[in-house]
Amino acid sequence: MDLGLSGRRALVTGSSSGLGEAIARTLAAEGAAVVVHGRDERRTAAVAGAIGAAGYAVGDLTSDAGAERVAGAAGRVDILVNNAGRYESRTWSEAEPEQWVEAYETNVVSAVRLIRRLVPPMRERGWGRVVQIGGGLASQPTAAAPQYNATLAARHNLAVSLARELKGSGVTSNVVSPGAVLVDWMRPYVDTPEIQAIVHGNDVGRLGRPEEIAAAVAYLCGPAADYISGATLRVDGGTIISAF
Ligand SMILES: NC(=O)c1ccc[n+]([C@@H]2O[C@H](COP(=O)([O-])OP(=O)(O)OC[C@H]3O[C@@H](n4cnc5c(N)ncnc54)[C@H](OP(=O)(O)O)[C@@H]3O)[C@@H](O)[C@H]2O)c1
Repeated sequence: MDLGLSGRRALVTGSSSGLGEAIARTLAAEGAAVVVHGRDERRTAAVAGAIGAAGYAVGDLTSDAGAERVAGAAGRVDILVNNAGRYESRTWSEAEPEQWVEAYETNVVSAVRLIRRLVPPMRERGWGRVVQIGGGLASQPTAAAPQYNATLAARHNLAVSLARELKGSGVTSNVVSPGAVLVDWMRPYVDTPEIQAIVHGNDVGRLGRPEEIAAAVAYLCGPAADYISGATLRVDGGTIISAF
């Protein structure tokens, strides 16, 4: 199936590794002109070269100056995938207020900075896509990493608010919500009781693969998803147990 992405230009934040890299690779393979993003220039450029990207942008999205640099380097963007973010394992007693603020900056305000810069031009052109990467911990949080779980909930919430804001504009806003997906940083933890509980607690019986998240993002970016806005697409093997 041709997803209809050729001629579209996409910025995938945090695509120097993990889920973002898989999303960038899939969008490029589907014919989109992809801009890869990360903070480390060497790694970001290497991914861009490996996937045949249109270019790359480097910058820390926790500052306005960094976001401005990234938006400037990206140029015209039809598809914005807000994926950049960081999981940090902290208990309630370890997570100091500063860490809550830091997590919110990294995982939420970073996306808002790019939405504010890149969505108004999409609106003027009458077409665009914004996809937030959310997660199951938004709706079924565990005791671990409360400061991170709350940022996922904020991502889901802002995506729906943005969809309402974009009513009638031709620009949609949606969430792809992964379960636990096996990326490089997770490999050392695969045999821990926490990860094994996730593996045995979902209906498929394994961790997700980055390309499975990427496929869902690519679908939402194409014309086949014109009628989908303000939605959450769970890609989690049935980890989240809910009819809605
Ligand atoms: N893996 C999972 O199971 C899972 C599940 C649900 C949701 N998610 C979400 O998926 C996203 C990607 O996670 P991942 O597991 O693929 O992690 P990852 O491999 O560590 O990738 C994180 C990406 O975000 C970038 N990044 C981090 N902080 C940044 C900042 N301040 N400014 C700009 N870029 C920044 C990193 O860039 P650098 O190159 O500079 O480090 C990297 O490209 C995250 O938002 C995470 O919350 C992941």
